[in-house]
Amino acid sequence: MRIDILTILPKLLESPLNDSIMKRAQEKGHVEIHIHNIRDYSTHRQKSVDDYQYGGGAGMVMLCQPIADCIDKLKAERKYDEIIYMTPDGEILEQTTCNTLSTSQNLLILCGHYKGVDQRIRDIYVTKEISIGSYVLSGGELGAAVLVDSIVRLIPGVLNDETSALTDSFQDDLLAPPVYTRPDDFKGHKVPEILLSGDSKKIDEWRNEQAIKRTAERRPDLNE
Ligand code: ADE
Repeated sequence: MRIDILTILPKLLESPLNDSIMKRAQEKGHVEIHIHNIRDYSTHRQKSVDDYQYGGGAGMVMLCQPIADCIDKLKAERKYDEIIYMTPDGEILEQTTCNTLSTSQNLLILCGHYKGVDQRIRDIYVTKEISIGSYVLSGGELGAAVLVDSIVRLIPGVLNDETSALTDSFQDDLLAPPVYTRPDDFKGHKVPEILLSGDSKKIDEWRNEQAIKRTAERRPDLNE
């Protein structure tokens, strides 16, 4: 998979996407992540990327020209499965969307700032608009990092057996059960007896019961 990310703050994306599992996924060749600085595409003398909004009002709007030139260049080189715009008014990101996007060949992700991008960029180029939650971030970069992480870890081969995505919360509309490691007694709090029994069938049953209980208590909406 190849992911192109368009941003005016490349540094915000470098650390989350170049460490741990995301770093290994790139080193092993499962994904290529290319970060593009929108400012490099500005034809303005001062390399501006934003301007006042028509009709007045507080907040700047990101200009069409640098974004359009960058997207046009990339689109001439390959076909994109989706051109995604990170925005608080997009569809809320869910595991099903991550699963679908993880089968893509090429994704382009556009990060907005200030009041966002000129509506015409959304009308002309964007095929999917994603929000990572019902709150407003300073820009789309942290959302893009969340989106990329949630997709890349699902590409076959990125996770090993121990970190397999199949047992994640949400994959079967259930939250994950509680987990424990050594010691078996910590400050008087003991690990549930069943996990020390060695009876793998009973352990699986217990984990499933706990997952159902946890989901009913914390996220009853997942079963609606
Ligand atoms: N940009 C600003 N807020 C955002 C959010 N909640 N999700 C995605 N992109 C954003």
